[in-house]
Amino acid sequence: MTTTADYGEKIPNNVDLREDRRLQRALESWQPNFLSWWDSMGPSLPTQDVYLRTAVNVGREGWAHFGHVAMRDYRWGIFLADRKEDRRIAFGQHKGEPVWQKVPGEYRADLQRLIVIQGDTEPASVEQQRNLGATAPSLYDLRNLFQVNVEEGRHLWAMVYLLHAYFGREGREEAEELLHRNSGSEESPRILGAFNEETPDWLSFFMFTYFTDRDGKYQLGTLKESAFDPLSRTCEFMLKEESHHMFVGTTGIDRVVQRTVELMREHDTDDVIAHGGIPLEVIQKYVNFHYSVSLDLFGGETSTNVANYFTAGLKGRWAEERRKDDHRLTDDSIMVDAIVDGTVGQTEVAALVGLNTDLRREYISDCQNGLNRWNRILEEAGVPQRLRLPHAAFNRRVGAFTGIEATPEGEIISAEEWERRKGGWLPTDVDKAHVRSLMQPVHQPGKIAAWIAPPRQGINGKPFDYDYVHLA
Ligand SMILES: [Fe+2]
Ligand SMILES: [Fe+2]
Repeated sequence: MTTTADYGEKIPNNVDLREDRRLQRALESWQPNFLSWWDSMGPSLPTQDVYLRTAVNVGREGWAHFGHVAMRDYRWGIFLADRKEDRRIAFGQHKGEPVWQKVPGEYRADLQRLIVIQGDTEPASVEQQRNLGATAPSLYDLRNLFQVNVEEGRHLWAMVYLLHAYFGREGREEAEELLHRNSGSEESPRILGAFNEETPDWLSFFMFTYFTDRDGKYQLGTLKESAFDPLSRTCEFMLKEESHHMFVGTTGIDRVVQRTVELMREHDTDDVIAHGGIPLEVIQKYVNFHYSVSLDLFGGETSTNVANYFTAGLKGRWAEERRKDDHRLTDDSIMVDAIVDGTVGQTEVAALVGLNTDLRREYISDCQNGLNRWNRILEEAGVPQRLRLPHAAFNRRVGAFTGIEATPEGEIISAEEWERRKGGWLPTDVDKAHVRSLMQPVHQPGKIAAWIAPPRQGINGKPFDYDYVHLA
């Protein structure tokens, strides 16, 4: 079944919103609240228009349209991937049964919670990034930032649609709350820790889109498997947009590393600070920080809640249907990280309770691809240094390693030693101040800041010096 988006409506959608007047009215009354949230918490840099991608369809080809639009007039819409006829539940106790088009009463509270947690991260990242426009290294980068921002706004719409359409009054209340909680707020912070951290500079932004948006990819991947079909279809389409966010992170860090090695070679020094670059050592510290806080987002090594979600069919594994096992896991086991006899080790648990570990492992091996890529840039430039992912025990505040401190190699150290040495592993105030000092805006087409290399290509076939953004 192929659906085309309806753009004649106030809220573009491919869910036949006009057929359900009550739902349409409820969402249309949420829309002004969304816009006032966008006005007060969205990008703070005033612009006339931005060269943006807008989702117009959900098929494989031609799903997006590119053009200059005033950001406030962006057509945030509701798009679900096409429904698969006869889709069956792929895992858990209901494996083989038809998927659900309505929320089963016994899973209502859990499904609502999963949707709220996912929904909360989407506007949170817009809030975290709201002031970055003022220091963009190029118009190309500025455009990419805004693209990520409007799409995270659309992802909020995606979750709010599910809450309004399937969870009644409670769902509508939760949809309001998604606009009331704010990143870093004292009274009502965002739900997850990493989404209350600030994104104060562009190196942090690229790290965030590489490591933290990638966590989002894996969470969406598990929800895409859900037996609740509207949630599955929503997440499938979100994943499509999400891949651009990770592209921004991957290539952003590529370009920082590239520029750093250029400066290292040009001036024959590792200390590129004096030459306006970011030293590899500082890039490594940013990797250490963003990777470790993103590992925390996967939760504890073991979780009975997640076991129950899987058994119930609410949330599957990454690439569930490609797994070669019984998809019920009632007799399987998994090794998970643990402190064993005072050292970093592993312990065996039932596969069902270890599902957070399974997902985190998929994520870790995906993260390694970026490191390989950046190390190729170093290798090709003929510099001996390499970047690496720190050990899973490093700087953790959630799970088995919460109570200990460990080096990036995974060796347990005392709290005193951690305090003494952590400045060598995590960005210090001096490092952050240096990075921030480089964040001078470059807002002329075709120009770029000195700490980052230009991209190999522009967006949608446009050149790098295209006028991607018209400032106000
Ligand atoms: Fe998102
Ligand atoms: Fe994203």
